Amino acid sequence: MIRVNENYLKLQSSYLFSEISKRITAFRESHPEREIIKLGIGDVTCALPAACVAAFHAAATEMGDERTFRGYGPEQGYEFLREKIAVHDYKERGAEIEAGEIFISDGAKCDVGNIQELFAEDVIVAVPDPVYPVYVDTNVMAGRSGDWQDASYRGLVYLKSTEHNNYVPELPETKVDLIYLCFPNNPTGATISREKLREWVTYAQKNNALIIYDAAYEAFIKDETLPRSIFEIQGAKEVAVEIRSFSKTAGFTGTRCAYTVVPEACNVYTRSGTAVPLHTLWLRRQTTKFNGVSYPVQRAAEAVFSAEGKKQVKDLIDYYMHNAGLIRKRFSEMGFLCTGGDNSPYIWIQAKMASWDFFNLLLEKAGVVCTPGSGFGKCGEGYVRISAFNSHENVEKALHKISDVFR
Ligand code: MLT
Repeated sequence: MIRVNENYLKLQSSYLFSEISKRITAFRESHPEREIIKLGIGDVTCALPAACVAAFHAAATEMGDERTFRGYGPEQGYEFLREKIAVHDYKERGAEIEAGEIFISDGAKCDVGNIQELFAEDVIVAVPDPVYPVYVDTNVMAGRSGDWQDASYRGLVYLKSTEHNNYVPELPETKVDLIYLCFPNNPTGATISREKLREWVTYAQKNNALIIYDAAYEAFIKDETLPRSIFEIQGAKEVAVEIRSFSKTAGFTGTRCAYTVVPEACNVYTRSGTAVPLHTLWLRRQTTKFNGVSYPVQRAAEAVFSAEGKKQVKDLIDYYMHNAGLIRKRFSEMGFLCTGGDNSPYIWIQAKMASWDFFNLLLEKAGVVCTPGSGFGKCGEGYVRISAFNSHENVEKALHKISDVFR
């Protein structure tokens, strides 16, 4: 008799975005004639940048020729890509991150879900509320929480992010060990100032805590005063890991490429207090459980840093940010309180009703899919998230239909 990992039984029945998909499928079956516009999951719709496609093709051609063919690549990722990331994403912004501290992967979701394996079962985990569900669910699976009760898991520390603190949580009142932060935030679209981020780094230094900083949406920051990386804050290299993705930046959701920065200076501790470099552990984990991202995909990602690639990526971001501005403007005009959409592709909207009721209303009356805020946590109840990832035409059409609902 194989016993189950009972932690899985504590999980809510389905992952938020799977639940939304199920509801869309049911709606489609019962209303085959209706058009549906998806502004729910943050999945990109524009084609890959031309520079990435050219590099992808060239690398595929290399793979088809014995002289240039490559088998297994380095588990940590090819140096050509790690070097470019270190220079363009970090050193150019004053953050001293070396190529050896970068680990290429097939997704930020996988990295953010996997990294918790390196920590003891009894570490105290703090997550913002509302929160990207992967931080929570993966810790529940690992046994770091109690049961689900009153719309939250016992044992996890939820850090309220509401309009009262501009969706930037206050420092915890009790000591926590592992802290998840995400800015620009998913789902609220809020950003964090350099000063506030410094407070978090100082908290982590004083409390021997570790911050998992999810910067998947940094490319959408327009305000140059905002930090794009936690490593722009002095001292962060001792207390933080950062996760980034090419998914939203360069349209790689279906191509799969991301990376995690684990600084050499970042330590975790044994029960007796001996320091262990997190970098060594993550390398050990990746070399055992992961065989790297395919060569053509890494070449395609490298092209993001070429002159044409940078220009094309900027155009992509501007394209979606045009949608974000429009969504925020129109919802504000309809009398809804909105956050985000200025430095982020998500707009967080006070729904003036229960989140799932708003979801159903929008789907049934306008054929538009949003994401119910309650799916991101207790503080998300009464809100919905609208994503800017769609064509200008579809966003215009969706907003038109939505304004008819609230006329
Ligand atoms: C979202 O919609 O929150 C994201 O697409 C989820 C993800 O990146 O996994």
